[in-house]
Amino acid sequence: MASSPAATSAVLAVVLVATLAAGANAATFTITNQCSFTVWPAATPVGGGAQLEPGRTWAIDVPAGTSSGRVWGRTGCSFDGSGRGGCQTGDCGGALSCTLSGQPPLTIAEFTLGGDKDFYNLSVIDGFNVGVSFSCSSGETLTCRERSCPAAYQFPDDNSKLRSCNGNSNYQVVFCP
Ligand SMILES: *[C@@H]1O[C@H](CO)[C@@H](O)[C@H](O)[C@H]1NC(C)=O
Repeated sequence: MASSPAATSAVLAVVLVATLAAGANAATFTITNQCSFTVWPAATPVGGGAQLEPGRTWAIDVPAGTSSGRVWGRTGCSFDGSGRGGCQTGDCGGALSCTLSGQPPLTIAEFTLGGDKDFYNLSVIDGFNVGVSFSCSSGETLTCRERSCPAAYQFPDDNSKLRSCNGNSNYQVVFCP
């Protein structure tokens, strides 16, 4: 039986939907606290924030296409039952769940999730508050344990510390690596 135009467009529609669905993946960020103290990780524009006791892990799903994403640690926080309070470092307007950037000094993991490729880096441009390692499942691990660490951007035009990995990769962030 010769394929009719209707059958052909039905097949094309199925292929198109499948392609769009494949492109709409999310990256899982697994954030682990290896410090001996509590860290309150923050994540924008997706994730918000959480309280993370030593040895615990927090996972967030970030949609493909998210640009200028950030994850950082906050220390010395206290929040009330409604999620209002503050932190000694990395505070984002007194909220447990961040929508604003953190107050310096803070060590920042930055990322842009593209289609074929993602880009990520560590930055101490805004100072250093806690050691961080940042890795992508298909790329290099960046580790920063002190203010002068060579793996992080020390200033905006620092020699490129930007790394890339395959699109649809997952990420690991570790505090006190
Ligand atoms: C670090 O990565 C973020 C996200 O891709 C990007 O916006 C930022 O410009 C990068 N930082 C530097 C100094 O290149």
